[in-house]
Amino acid sequence: MKIAIVGATGEVGRMMLNCLAEFNVPVTELDLLASPRSAGSVLYFGDRAITVKILDEDSLRRPFDYVLFSAGAGVALNYAPIAAAAGSVVIDNSSAFRREKEIPLVVPEINGSLLSGYTGIIANPNCTTIQMVLPLAVLDRLYGLRKVVVSTYQSVSGSGHKGIVTMENQRTGETDIGIYPELIDLNVIPQIGAFQDSGYSQEEEKIHFETRKILDQPDLEVCATCVRVPVIFGHSESIYAEFAQPVDLAEAAAALAQSESIVYEENTYITPRGLGQSNDSHVCRLRYGTGPNSICFWNVGHNVRLGAATNAVRILLRHAKSAGRI
Ligand SMILES: NC(=O)c1ccc[n+]([C@@H]2O[C@H](COP(=O)([O-])OP(=O)(O)OC[C@H]3O[C@@H](n4cnc5c(N)ncnc54)[C@H](OP(=O)(O)O)[C@@H]3O)[C@@H](O)[C@H]2O)c1
Repeated sequence: MKIAIVGATGEVGRMMLNCLAEFNVPVTELDLLASPRSAGSVLYFGDRAITVKILDEDSLRRPFDYVLFSAGAGVALNYAPIAAAAGSVVIDNSSAFRREKEIPLVVPEINGSLLSGYTGIIANPNCTTIQMVLPLAVLDRLYGLRKVVVSTYQSVSGSGHKGIVTMENQRTGETDIGIYPELIDLNVIPQIGAFQDSGYSQEEEKIHFETRKILDQPDLEVCATCVRVPVIFGHSESIYAEFAQPVDLAEAAAALAQSESIVYEENTYITPRGLGQSNDSHVCRLRYGTGPNSICFWNVGHNVRLGAATNAVRILLRHAKSAGRI
């Protein structure tokens, strides 16, 4: 298949290259595109060295089977429609199209059926939402989800390569706050994105909206508090969920343990450092909440893998299968 990656030199773009190889995507042609800053640099797909090219309008006027966008909302708004008009299926990692009614927001294990017969732009959800909705969808099918309250502990790589550099500089004694509103090293910051009129941050509002859209429950009650923590890779979430029906904890644990892309950890817990290169959403510390109809659990996922590149490649594979391309 002919594939292009826009933003190939970023944290997510580089991981997309890894995931295309790890998931054995049959790639015949691969264009790697970025800004003039990194044009001319060389990236490897397996043992193939590929020179990164400057993204311009002509880069995407010929059709690819898939164009994976991972270069922020501004770039996506400008260039994704050009790629789609050329006949390419676009999978975009940014927030640019997630709220568009006609554009599917996809976690393939939950709503992958939306990809059948679809062409055009597909939106990849926010990293914190992907890892959370995977277990919530399983529990929703069993007990009828009514309310979610989540606090997140999000790593600096969630802000891209600049987030990692900012924290590493502070570790060597720099006192420049870099891209964050406060020092992030040895600290936690309860703000991700600008605050909105509602009092919630942009990241929190993304979780509210995207959870409802993916689970197809416009009236679901969702309340998020998003916090940046001095961790390099891996987002953690403390989740409280309420249901229409009483929960059977043993049954819920068994269902989670058997579900695709979920690892259920019994009698132990996982930390972001323990994730390694996992592509799964890890669930542990499952327990009752305030009564029989609610539960609490701890959830950890690799934000650059599951939260971005892995989900994008899973969308590609699911779409390619339904379109008979593989
Ligand atoms: N990091 C995460 O955990 C995560 C999770 C989910 C979604 N996302 C989303 O994925 C996207 C990329 O995130 P990231 O973490 O990979 O960021 P990043 O490390 O900062 O990388 C950004 C990439 O975009 C490219 N780029 C920026 N401006 C460009 C332009 N005008 N034209 C062409 N390319 C341009 C950069 O190219 P240069 O090398 O030339 O600068 C780089 O390849 C963002 O939309 C982000 O919100 C990230």
